[in-house]
Amino acid sequence: FQMVIGAIFAGGIGSRMGSADMPKQYLQLGSKPIIVHTIEKFVVNPGIDRIIVLCPKAWIAHTKDLVKKYLGEAIAEKINVVEGGSTRNGTLENALKFINENFAIDDDSVIVTHDAVRPFVTHRIIDENIEAAKKYGACDTVIPATDTIVRSEDGENVSSIPTRSELYQGQTPQTFRIKELEGVLNSLTEDEKNTLTDACKIYTIKNKPVRIVDGEVFNIKITYTYDLKVANALLGVVNNDK
Ligand code: CTP
Repeated sequence: FQMVIGAIFAGGIGSRMGSADMPKQYLQLGSKPIIVHTIEKFVVNPGIDRIIVLCPKAWIAHTKDLVKKYLGEAIAEKINVVEGGSTRNGTLENALKFINENFAIDDDSVIVTHDAVRPFVTHRIIDENIEAAKKYGACDTVIPATDTIVRSEDGENVSSIPTRSELYQGQTPQTFRIKELEGVLNSLTEDEKNTLTDACKIYTIKNKPVRIVDGEVFNIKITYTYDLKVANALLGVVNNDK
């Protein structure tokens, strides 16, 4: 039947953050780990039927513990913690595999894929993702580019400066009709699988429509130590639940 499944991507190791003992999604932000903030955004959204959290194998038990500790046993029932992949696409494939093996979904069911390290996603963004994916098949959350984007092919000289009004910065969620997404992924060659790391990019290359959903400037991805400092500052501004 028709399902809306939230897939929280926490399969990375956070090498750019350089935190020695744990992947960045487990670092503390205010009173709880980053990943808990993110999962909560999906838990409280009534449009989401199930949540799958994909994380490194060695962190599955810890993640399950966090879910129980911060969200409680009852909510933990609705959340599956599953092994991610070695690449982001691999993590997406594991999510789809889990869905196929565990849920009976129809053609209109959608998957809302979201970075575990974007804890400031909003209710509106999630709602508009679900709506757009149901209507158009796929959508990407973006914000207009504010800086001029300069293109350089060799890293030394400016090759071109694209028109800023046509440029956006990609965020997540990215949301897809599940059956269609599987069809598109199955059509890829091994080469394409290795080079196309973004599911929305795959859609555009295959000439399939991807609708734009407005993100938020504060829907940041925590990538570097600097971003964690910014996130801590943002907590009191955009999040009520410290
Ligand atoms: N991700 C994932 N599976 C992977 C790689 C990344 O689920 N194999 C997730 C990360 O956990 C993160 C999101 O995708 O929530 C965005 O990726 P990024 O910020 O690049 O995370 P990392 O790969 O962990 O960071 P880094 O590139 O610094 O190692």
